[in-house]
Amino acid sequence: MKFLVLGAAAGGGLPQWNCGCRNCNDARRGKIPPSGQSSLAVSVDGETWSILNASPDIRQQMLDNPVLHPRELRDTPVASVLLTNGDIDHIAGLLSLREQTPFRLLATGDILDVLGANRIFDAVNREKVAREKVGLDAPFDLHGGLTATLFAVPGKVPLFMEGAEVQTDLEGEQTVGVRMEGGGKIAYYIPGCAVVTDKLLARIADADILFFDGTVWDDDEMIRTGTGIKTGRRMGHVPISGDGGSLDRLARIAAQKVYIHINNTNPILQPDSRERIAVQAAGWEIAQDGQEITP
Ligand code: MLT
Ligand code: MN
Ligand code: ZN
Repeated sequence: MKFLVLGAAAGGGLPQWNCGCRNCNDARRGKIPPSGQSSLAVSVDGETWSILNASPDIRQQMLDNPVLHPRELRDTPVASVLLTNGDIDHIAGLLSLREQTPFRLLATGDILDVLGANRIFDAVNREKVAREKVGLDAPFDLHGGLTATLFAVPGKVPLFMEGAEVQTDLEGEQTVGVRMEGGGKIAYYIPGCAVVTDKLLARIADADILFFDGTVWDDDEMIRTGTGIKTGRRMGHVPISGDGGSLDRLARIAAQKVYIHINNTNPILQPDSRERIAVQAAGWEIAQDGQEITP
């Protein structure tokens, strides 16, 4: 099993169009590498690929990664696209995949309902791109030789579908993690998670590799940096640091561990920051666009 990081950033990307924070400005100046929005590709043989989350940057992400180029007139090595929630950073890229080339589109019923409620997604021809509803905790074939299972993780409905009251730790079909098994390895991809529950810890104990929500370093990061008014947890993302943070909660998971879905405000993006050093000292990698990872 091999992975290719297509987009290490959270929604908005790095730099984000309207953000003049230090990280975004450094990315504009080439001081730190820019990153596209949240997406990960996976393959067993390096020839056929599945894309986990279709980011708004998918056109550039495919251009930048030759293994995803067409091999003949009107073709793609992408067999399937799997969605882990209905947020814009994970679904908007589908609109760039609308040119009549078949692939399988896989998601839970609730996530498919988000697409169904937004007619613009009908531009992706359902006769070519079959929408396959996947149940929780039921293994299915992602593509030849690669088995995946979706499971509920605490999260919320997509930002653009929030009502007046929002439950941020809903466990259901809205926000899922993915377990993948292939080539003798077990991988988990969890780009959004509001709480690291004991149940989640037990579930991922067999991981060889874990890609996990690295959106914010601390819960009030966006408030503190003056870039937003919501906490990480309110956005459905457990912070890395602090009480109940992922660094502490996942400390005993013996897998290769990679933070992904990293918000542009996160201090781990700065090369010599104490936060980056702390994360790396705890054995974590910080995903970068174009990075190939073979567990
Ligand atoms: C998130 O992960 O919180 C979302 O991507 C937010 C957004 O849609 O901008
Ligand atoms: Mn997101
Ligand atoms: Zn920024």
